[in-house]
Amino acid sequence: PAPASRISSGPDIAVIGGSGFYSFFDSDAHGVIVDTPYGRPSAPITIGAVAGRQTAFLPRHGERHQYSPHTVPYRANMWALRTLGVRKVLAPCAAGSLSPDLGPGAVVVPDQLVDRTSGRTQTYFDGGAVHVRFADPYCPGLRAAAMLPGTVDGGAVVVVEGPRFSTRAESRWFAAQGWTLVNMTGHPEAVLARELELCYATIALVTDLDAGLTAGEGVRAVDVFAEFERNLGPFKDLVRAAVAEVPTTDCAHCRVHDGVTLPIELP
Ligand code: ADE
Repeated sequence: PAPASRISSGPDIAVIGGSGFYSFFDSDAHGVIVDTPYGRPSAPITIGAVAGRQTAFLPRHGERHQYSPHTVPYRANMWALRTLGVRKVLAPCAAGSLSPDLGPGAVVVPDQLVDRTSGRTQTYFDGGAVHVRFADPYCPGLRAAAMLPGTVDGGAVVVVEGPRFSTRAESRWFAAQGWTLVNMTGHPEAVLARELELCYATIALVTDLDAGLTAGEGVRAVDVFAEFERNLGPFKDLVRAAVAEVPTTDCAHCRVHDGVTLPIELP
């Protein structure tokens, strides 16, 4: 663990790395272990500088990919980041494509989310009736920061429960709804961020065409990982460039609790 003085100077920005994205800093980073009322986060959080800004990094699936999408400690992760002083979270992830126009290697900044998970705890507010605004699940300021040259602006990501991939019929149904991407971790992370008034946006790297788009055997995890690995270097560079663009100002859009009495105190 780092000395307390370094923690209190605190990172304002965090990057949560998805499958295949387990480290972010080349040098001069230190790790902190954070305990939360919801248990330990997926891994120690490393803090380093990106474009001169203190940035926290958390690998969502753990340092050894020990957490499957349905067992990720989402509440602990977001709480731990806020405890460190983080207010803006970029969440790069792997995603399947539901559109033939977006092949592997495409980078998309979604603007909508569809929740098809089941049984995941998706709130901190168990002890009181709090209903947060979520019509636009991603922070517009952070989305703007992520929309670098070559990225695709917008689209809905449908988040499936996993850990299995979708059937061909499910996949065709998602595509017929006009949804763009499919992944397994975008929910409840986005809504937990909103409950903590953390600005949040995701940057999706397309790793495969989902089952409804292809005639072959369907999506296989090894191919998803291999494709992610192939693009990892440039993708990390893009995330670093997005961090440099993150607004330093407060964000009114993601402040949803003004005038609301919360059943818990946020860290
Ligand atoms: N993550 C990457 N590719 C995926 C797919 N096709 N379905 C669900 N999650 C994914």
